[in-house]
Amino acid sequence: MTASILGILLAAGEGTRMRSRSPKVLHHVAGRPMVGHVQSAMAEAGIATMALVVGNGAEKVADTAKASYPETQIFVQSERLGTAHAVLAARDAIEQGFDSIVIGYGDTPLVTPGLFMSIINELQTGADVVVLGFHSENPTGYGRLIMDQGKLTAIREEKDATPAERQITFCNSGIMGLSGPRALDLLDAIGNENAKGEFYLTDAVAVANAGGLDVRSVEGKEEDTLGVNNRIELAAAEACLQERLRAKVMENGVTLVDPNSTFLSYDTEIGADTIIEPNCFFAPGVKIAEDVTIKANCYFEGDTKKGQFVTVASGAVIGPFARLRPGASLMSDVKVGNFCEVKNASVGRGAKINHLTYIGDATLGADANIGAGTITCNYDGFSKYITEIGEGAFIGSNSALVAPVSIGDGAYIASGSVITDNVSNDALAVGRGRQVQKDKWAAEMRAKRKDG
Ligand code: UD1
Ligand code: CA
Repeated sequence: MTASILGILLAAGEGTRMRSRSPKVLHHVAGRPMVGHVQSAMAEAGIATMALVVGNGAEKVADTAKASYPETQIFVQSERLGTAHAVLAARDAIEQGFDSIVIGYGDTPLVTPGLFMSIINELQTGADVVVLGFHSENPTGYGRLIMDQGKLTAIREEKDATPAERQITFCNSGIMGLSGPRALDLLDAIGNENAKGEFYLTDAVAVANAGGLDVRSVEGKEEDTLGVNNRIELAAAEACLQERLRAKVMENGVTLVDPNSTFLSYDTEIGADTIIEPNCFFAPGVKIAEDVTIKANCYFEGDTKKGQFVTVASGAVIGPFARLRPGASLMSDVKVGNFCEVKNASVGRGAKINHLTYIGDATLGADANIGAGTITCNYDGFSKYITEIGEGAFIGSNSALVAPVSIGDGAYIASGSVITDNVSNDALAVGRGRQVQKDKWAAEMRAKRKDG
């Protein structure tokens, strides 16, 4: 039988240094709220049950956490009396009876499943308390792990530490594991006699040692537990996550011509032998197949909430300067060139949309050719309408296709047309004023004006 594990996520941080109307843990890193990254790391580590501790009025945090993991239990810590007090806000969850409890933080988006797994591993081999530590060149502000002959004896908060203890560089990440059956006794024994008058979760270490329990530390990297308190740290977390995401796609066989100018989301999928030129941005909900070429300066964005993805099949060539929006679905060998936007449209194999075009709410058959400046007029200010373009249809440059409208297979639209009626297969449609010529008109006009 697999062990039952409860993950407790503290997210009652004030976040005032973000200078934001939005709760801190909802700020995005690589296209996802910070709290979502931590939930996903917990889930990947095998933590099936999660309890989220939020502050007052944090309904949005609760909603966001439940949107990705509906089973998440929500608890409110209405007074901010310290990290142990925050964990105890989830008392009802702890009382459900778990083998192991892992405590994480909603503002540490770089945390990896491996860190949680290393804690779970110690708990499953008999530890009662496990602390994730890291070595830091600049330990100021962190709680320090007090070690004695390889054993963790206590954690001392900066404010309570002696000058000698402040020299210690082994720091507390805050991430911790507790034996499920022992957790409540340990937490209830923690007092608040310290410099801040708070109930420190870190005191679980001293309490457990006093009771002769098995207390262990594991070590991670400082970077992985970076907590975000302001926009500068948010940007640092973003940079770090981008580096990881870029490394992952490159290891999977994607060429990033300039990795530092390629921006990916947590869920971006890109197939092998795809080449991405500089300055491309992938918002969430984008799946690019193998052997795609993406030229410089392109923007991709799906809508994961609505389940509308951007999908690009192999052999496609996109950009430079193309924008693919939610529901853009490009079959193999499609070309989308400069200053083209495609939204909620299925584009058939080999179709070409090469210059200055908007294709929205449309279906394009295979090998359709869309001339420069073509616009699907999909919106009348109230509703959106569909444009259907058949296989091998040829849309002359600067045409406006006023939806709802259907262009038949192999049909031909004269340049500059405004098409309001359906066009039959293989027909020619001309929807523009006829050209007139008045011989000598210009010369006569000039002569008249001179005389005047
Ligand atoms: C805490 C640790 C410290 C560690 C550091 C790592 C304690 C006592 N100290 O210090 O050893 O080095 O994190 O960053 O745990 N929170 C609540 N409710 C509270 C208090 C805190 O939910 O009443 C949550 C917040 O989301 C906060 C997090 O716990 O972001 C950490 O609390 P904070 O007060 O910032 O602790 P630190 O001083 O950073
Ligand atoms: Ca903190």
